[in-house]
Amino acid sequence: MLTISQVLIALAVFLLIMQFLKLQRVRRQLPPGPIPLPIFGTLIQLNFQFNRDLLMKVAKIHGNIFTLWFGWAPVIVLNGYQAVKDGMTMYPEDVSGRLVSPFFRAMAKGKGIMLATGHTWKQQRRFALRTLRNLGLGKRGLEHRVQEEAHYLVAFFASMKGKPLDPSFPLVHSVSNVICAVVFGHRFSREDETLHELIRATEHLFKFGGSFIHHLYEIFPWLMCRLPGPHKKALSCYEVLSSFTRREIRMHTDRGIPDEPQDFIDFYLAHIEKSKDEPRSTYNEDNMVYSINDLFLGGSETTSTTLIWGLLYMVANPDVQEKVQRELDAVLGPSQLICYEDRKELPYTNAVVHEVQRFSNIISVGMPRVCVRNTTLLGFPLKKGTIVLPNIASSLYDPEQWETPRQFNPGHFLDKDGNFVSQEAFLPFSVGHRVCLGEHLARTELFIFFASLLRAFTFRLPEGVTKISTEPILGGTLQPHPYRLCAIPR
Ligand code: HEM
Ligand SMILES: *[C@@H]1O[C@H](CO)[C@@H](O)[C@H](O)[C@H]1NC(C)=O
Repeated sequence: MLTISQVLIALAVFLLIMQFLKLQRVRRQLPPGPIPLPIFGTLIQLNFQFNRDLLMKVAKIHGNIFTLWFGWAPVIVLNGYQAVKDGMTMYPEDVSGRLVSPFFRAMAKGKGIMLATGHTWKQQRRFALRTLRNLGLGKRGLEHRVQEEAHYLVAFFASMKGKPLDPSFPLVHSVSNVICAVVFGHRFSREDETLHELIRATEHLFKFGGSFIHHLYEIFPWLMCRLPGPHKKALSCYEVLSSFTRREIRMHTDRGIPDEPQDFIDFYLAHIEKSKDEPRSTYNEDNMVYSINDLFLGGSETTSTTLIWGLLYMVANPDVQEKVQRELDAVLGPSQLICYEDRKELPYTNAVVHEVQRFSNIISVGMPRVCVRNTTLLGFPLKKGTIVLPNIASSLYDPEQWETPRQFNPGHFLDKDGNFVSQEAFLPFSVGHRVCLGEHLARTELFIFFASLLRAFTFRLPEGVTKISTEPILGGTLQPHPYRLCAIPR
């Protein structure tokens, strides 16, 4: 006689075998990859890890388009510049969906830009792009805001009189202030607690992303959303951002929309009025709040982390730092405002800024996309809803595209005569229809902040410190280990 438990075990084994066979059948139509197992997919073969080096190793075995399985879900990974670019630009519309996992749905409810898909995404993205362009024009435009913040930042470093300091907070503060000026129309002083609170909330959210509890939430959302824990704290951090944004919107509506819109909120409020009779309009307060949150989340941590890496590389490569300074001294006056346009006269500095972005690779493997309809990706048919990951790191570190991919080398962006050369494989902002919306602003900020700081200071390790790590802390974004430096006035 069979006992109940024997029957159950036999049944389970039978189901697992059926599932295994089904996976093998489905798998034949997809790009190659490690053999998936029921429940775990390919997680066991990958030691439950997922990072840029591991993905590049899998590509060595299976080629530049391969399939990994996260449990039941296949993820198609594109590896190397050519595959990333072709995959994202051959049918760009088809791969323009965003993977909105349970946690991100709980957070942004599919609204705004970054975590929206379809009609909402299209309208909100187009509006934000146009508005950033409008705000870029004129004397009080974006570039002026960046120059103003660079001025405050230099003044702050100068006030430290060469004493050791951790540069991360001042940099985050300045970069966040640029977004505040763009979106809310004003900046915050260094003493103002409000911006400190927003920055703390943002940092907390980034730290939560990719943590163990975050993964648990994605796997068991129905359970986790009922339990207390760090995920509740993360969601409340997002709420801090939302409620601050709502307060700023209230202040704008109270004072009325000026004839000449001054900031993102002015433009948005005017557009809600203008489109209120359009039946398919998605312009409303909720989408405004979430779009603004996206600008804040997408624009502060990324840009400041890149600058924190930049100063670290200068401390670690004093010869590069010196060469940048010599070029700046030769081309710019000591107190002349630095413009983004000046990069054309400063090829070495421009190359260094690009190499900082390439080598630091802060977004690591990048953000997953989703096919919004049945499509073909590099010859493989994919069903609507399939997840696609264009691995950004594999383009920035592609051995076929870069002379010394694993070394910090500004020569990557210079020809033999020292002229700046752009590189197609330089895709830190991704590529295709979802390419970073703040790319132009980010490039302007990186150049102006970096050049302003290096013109004013020489960055050195504090007395007695000899070792410094340029290895990243692996996570959602790649961060340097905290460090201190001295900004010696020149
Ligand atoms: C060094 C700085 C930055 C880097 C490396 C960066 C990188 C990226 C990347 C890789 C994506 C994902 C694109 C994709 O799905 O393929 C993205 C999206 C986005 N970024 Fe940036 N970004 C930076 C700065 C900024 C700034 C300053 C802003 C705001 C003004 C911004 C706003 C956004 C938004 C709103 C999205 C979502 C776009 C969409 O889903 O349609 N980013 N960024
Ligand atoms: C997409 O492909 C699936 C299976 O390959 C098929 O069943 C479905 O009808 C297709 N959908 C459309 C809209 O073509």
